[in-house]
Amino acid sequence: MSRRVPSTQRPASTPARRTAAEDLGLAPAVLAAKDVSVTYEDGHQALSDFTLDVRPGEVVALLGHSGSGKSTFMKAATGLAPVTATQLTVAGIDLTRASGRELRAARAQIGFVFQHFNLVPQLSALTNVLTGGLHDAGALGSLGLFPRAHRERALSLLERVGLADKAKQRADSLSGGQQQRVAIARALMQRPQLILADEPVASLDPRLAGSVLSLLREIATEDGIPVVVSLHVVELARRYADRFIALDGGRITRRGAADSLTDAAVADIYGPDMYSEATSGH
Ligand SMILES: Nc1ncnc2c1ncn2[C@@H]1O[C@H](COP(=O)(O)OP(=O)(O)OP(=O)(O)O)[C@@H](O)[C@H]1O
Ligand SMILES: [Mg+2]
Repeated sequence: MSRRVPSTQRPASTPARRTAAEDLGLAPAVLAAKDVSVTYEDGHQALSDFTLDVRPGEVVALLGHSGSGKSTFMKAATGLAPVTATQLTVAGIDLTRASGRELRAARAQIGFVFQHFNLVPQLSALTNVLTGGLHDAGALGSLGLFPRAHRERALSLLERVGLADKAKQRADSLSGGQQQRVAIARALMQRPQLILADEPVASLDPRLAGSVLSLLREIATEDGIPVVVSLHVVELARRYADRFIALDGGRITRRGAADSLTDAAVADIYGPDMYSEATSGH
């Protein structure tokens, strides 16, 4: 006969299994991807067995030729690609079995930064930043009436990205580098646990590219918000990332510390013909 265990003697909860990394004292991964594969509807497999843990404070660069699967990984991490995986969690939410509501909750934890900034051109820099907080601005927020605390926070974020004096300027009158800074402030407005930046500097000249990446680097280091960033210029990965992952045909071909991106490694990733392009950015 089975015996009921009095509730006071039952463990309150089963402790989650600790990973080897946590045993080493590392913070839990904000993004945990294990054996992630993506096959699009037309049958094309754009990502194969992609594995990556991203922890607070890290900047991880995704490298690889056009079509190698960098954006596909970003989409997978957002629940926007057809995925099979042993594990794919963002901020503790399992994307492989998330309901629509859980997926939205996971996306609310991700700040996105895109190549073309994706600001609303006719709105001011400040209003663009405020839209990053729309998910908790209440109904009035969608009418453009943002709570005072939001406006103050948005202004302080613009100040942080060096654009306090541009708050009232229309987004489409800002330079590319300034627009990308507004987009980063908008992402921060969301209080994200993770930033995914898909070629955030591909439309910027090299000087502005460095300033945008140094801002993302600072956010990771100072705020602990990890950044996954796809880049075409290896030198930028070397300078601003902690680690890199190189993709080719959807498969990881190399990974390691950013400072191990030697010339030989770069030639191996891109092939000798592409070598100078990937190192110089032109
Ligand atoms: N919706 C889709 N349906 C079918 N194939 C797709 C789809 N989206 C992307 N692909 C294909 O998947 C592969 C990987 O594309 P992806 O956009 O991830 O590459 P990428 O590394 O981001 O390239 P780039 O550097 O040019 O941005 C490409 O061959 C692309 O044509
Ligand atoms: Mg891409």
